[in-house]
Amino acid sequence: MTTVALKDVTKVFPDGTVAVDNINLDVNDGEFMVLLGPSGCGKSTVLRMVAGLEDPSSGAVLLDGELANDLPPRDRGIAMVFQDFALYPHMTVGDNIAFPLRLSGVEPGRRSERVTDVASALGIGDVLARKPNQLSGGQRQRVAMGRAIVRRPGLFLMDEPLSNLDSGLRAELRAEISGLVRELGVSTIYVTHDQAEALTMADRVAIMRKGVLQDVGTPTQVYGRPATLYVAAFLGSPRMNLLEASVYVHLDRYIALNLGEQSLYLPWDDIRSRAVARYHGERIVVGMRAEALTPVAPDAAGDVLQGRIRYLEHHGHESLAFLDIGATAIVVDELSGALSGPSAGGGRLRRFGRVMQRITGRGQDAAGGPPEERPGSSRISVLNDPGRHHRRPAELAVRLAPYPAVSAGHPLAISVRMDALHFFDERGDRIDVGWR
Ligand SMILES: Nc1ncnc2c1ncn2[C@@H]1O[C@H](COP(=O)(O)OP(=O)(O)OP(=O)(O)O)[C@@H](O)[C@H]1O
Ligand SMILES: [Mg+2]
Repeated sequence: MTTVALKDVTKVFPDGTVAVDNINLDVNDGEFMVLLGPSGCGKSTVLRMVAGLEDPSSGAVLLDGELANDLPPRDRGIAMVFQDFALYPHMTVGDNIAFPLRLSGVEPGRRSERVTDVASALGIGDVLARKPNQLSGGQRQRVAMGRAIVRRPGLFLMDEPLSNLDSGLRAELRAEISGLVRELGVSTIYVTHDQAEALTMADRVAIMRKGVLQDVGTPTQVYGRPATLYVAAFLGSPRMNLLEASVYVHLDRYIALNLGEQSLYLPWDDIRSRAVARYHGERIVVGMRAEALTPVAPDAAGDVLQGRIRYLEHHGHESLAFLDIGATAIVVDELSGALSGPSAGGGRLRRFGRVMQRITGRGQDAAGGPPEERPGSSRISVLNDPGRHHRRPAELAVRLAPYPAVSAGHPLAISVRMDALHFFDERGDRIDVGWR
């Protein structure tokens, strides 16, 4: 099946919008690659360049190792499925699926054989005689898939094919699609902004932000060792807790990570301590996912943080407690503002942050000034980067058993798995020990 290679691919639209910025990405034979990122980050533009519907401004698109920049879309052996898939309303389901075969001159006998095979694989064998308006949304999406599969392409390009469906159907279809595509062995690029979809379906995930590729890896790699603060914040639910920390090295003993009112201590013999020690006297970002935090008895020893529950969220199978631990959170603005548009949302959250600081007196560092005005903080870009990140009092997300016997205002001690912490530098890049 078709392999894809993007080499230094950039797309600048005539109005100057840089939709894709120097991307390098390989899709291997039979691989299920998911392109993940928020709205407007350039996912569809990448897909359209692979399909030949859009020309790269610079760089090369290779299909099976051959330069394909000038290859017309119809000669690329590609099938696309879009979010707003259009079926022919006047044709039956069977005729819709058969349509690409009719165009390429496959004789009727073989045509109906292939349609029957594909339809039964997709579980729509019993509705072949119906018209599209007599189908459910999920069935219509299966027909669109069928029409793409029936041509036996070398490469599938799918652009948010499930985003018009309700969540139950999405979960069902995402398992079906990834199963079916793997069975067929067809290389696939699947676009979504849904991180759960990406992590469950992909062989590898490529995460984009503002046209730039942030990280590529298996779901385990990108979730377990995110390359940047952005990837860390994007993947996982609840979001990773990202806290500002000052680093103080106590040679041969430990590294103190001062989180504001409390500290954590990274043992000197920890494999990451040398890398973190380079930031002595500086601020970094410490990431901890909810699964690294366990409620413990108030007087428990070890790596324990004391907090107070600000509020609880009940999810049925679990409850989440959000704790005030006297720390400052780093918020990736584009993600927080995703619902109301990046700038509007970010602005509102920033204002909210300032109001919270006034109310709680938190978010003020030892020097006593508002964080934005801290002298010398300009070189810490993550911590002083309006429009991409901002700071606010941390509300540490912790998993509890469903409907716990605690409520807002209760104190809660949590044990921290030090080996599960993530460290990011001032630019938002992972502080790593040099291997992955
Ligand atoms: N024809 C065009 N002319 C100018 N700008 C464009 C054009 N098409 C897309 N863009 C811009 O390029 C950027 C990337 O768009 P693209 O459609 O690739 O994003 P996306 O990641 O697919 O977003 P979504 O999840 O909302 O579909 C956006 O800022 C978009 O406004
Ligand atoms: Mg898109």
